[in-house]
Amino acid sequence: MTHDAASVRALLGEILAALSSAAESDDTRTLRERLERFVALSDDALTPAVLLEASAVPLGAMRIFPKEARGLVGSKANAIKQAAEAALAVEKEAALAKALEAQRSGAGFDATMPPPRQTCGSLHPITQVTRELEDLFTSMGWTILDGPEVETEHCNFDALNISPDHPARDTMDTFWVKTQPGAPRLVMRTHTSTVQVRAMRRLQPPFRAIVPGKVFRNEALDASHEHTFHQMEGLVVGKHVSVGHLIAAMKTLLRGIFGREIEIRLRPGYFPFVEPGFELDARCPFCTEGCSVCKRSTWIELLPCGMVHPNVLKAGGIDPEQWTGFAFGLGLSRLVMLRFGIDDVRHLLAGDVRFLEQF
Ligand code: DAH
Repeated sequence: MTHDAASVRALLGEILAALSSAAESDDTRTLRERLERFVALSDDALTPAVLLEASAVPLGAMRIFPKEARGLVGSKANAIKQAAEAALAVEKEAALAKALEAQRSGAGFDATMPPPRQTCGSLHPITQVTRELEDLFTSMGWTILDGPEVETEHCNFDALNISPDHPARDTMDTFWVKTQPGAPRLVMRTHTSTVQVRAMRRLQPPFRAIVPGKVFRNEALDASHEHTFHQMEGLVVGKHVSVGHLIAAMKTLLRGIFGREIEIRLRPGYFPFVEPGFELDARCPFCTEGCSVCKRSTWIELLPCGMVHPNVLKAGGIDPEQWTGFAFGLGLSRLVMLRFGIDDVRHLLAGDVRFLEQF
């Protein structure tokens, strides 16, 4: 006990005396009972917290005291409050000293306790895979390009050989951006292929580039469809570039991703901006006889690709008589799901820490 209980009781006594000069009422009776309860407490029970309360009771009921007594009651109650605060400060200091002492002596140290929680975050799985692929392609001399997510209708469709009435527009449920009447129409880009024409206009052939980024589709959402997802476009333009180069590049890509040689096959596929166009399948990296990932077929659809259509080269200001090229559109979100065994694309961008802290 750091404060003097007797003097606190004396202060409370003076407050009670001031109360006795007030006209008797229910309020005065209740207040008197409350104050008397503090006086009756044993020395040990008059802890600093109790003293704080004992000072707050009269301070909060000042209107019950006769006017002329209020000055005295205020000063007595504040004296109790100060005693409480001084005692609290002493208590805090003692606790700190005790804790320091315990630390110094090694008491209370438990070597089997888990370490303090790690508070630093980790890279998003999409960022991890993107960075790996960027490393892989830059090591082969490719450039990394970026493009706007709000894109012109021209770069998203027309320049890619998808005219306004082309049925391929229907396969991409597009988010159109509101623009002034008469102004060029804008879209949230539906694919990273938009950067093909931008790259051609900016870089002199020959060049090799990848474009990782977000794309947007106005789709009904389910475990494999999300309105926002990630793709990585690849584009090579050069002299005598052929399907053979495309196959070699894709094999290198797979070796980089899965760390070993993986068999591939090409099937015909139709995309207006490539001719011929292909669907490239890879041997399922997870099984030899069929599993749930490859839907028991031992092949997984990896990416669409093809030889850049002459009209696209022209739209990019490149002479198709002199230059040829190939392009591919890797579904980055899908690859991340394959890689980490994620079963619902919606987890990727939901921002749920319980999901994210697993990577
Ligand atoms: N941009 C197409 C899509 O999102 C995918 C694609 C197909 C990209 C063929 C390509 C390609 O570069 O050659 O559906």
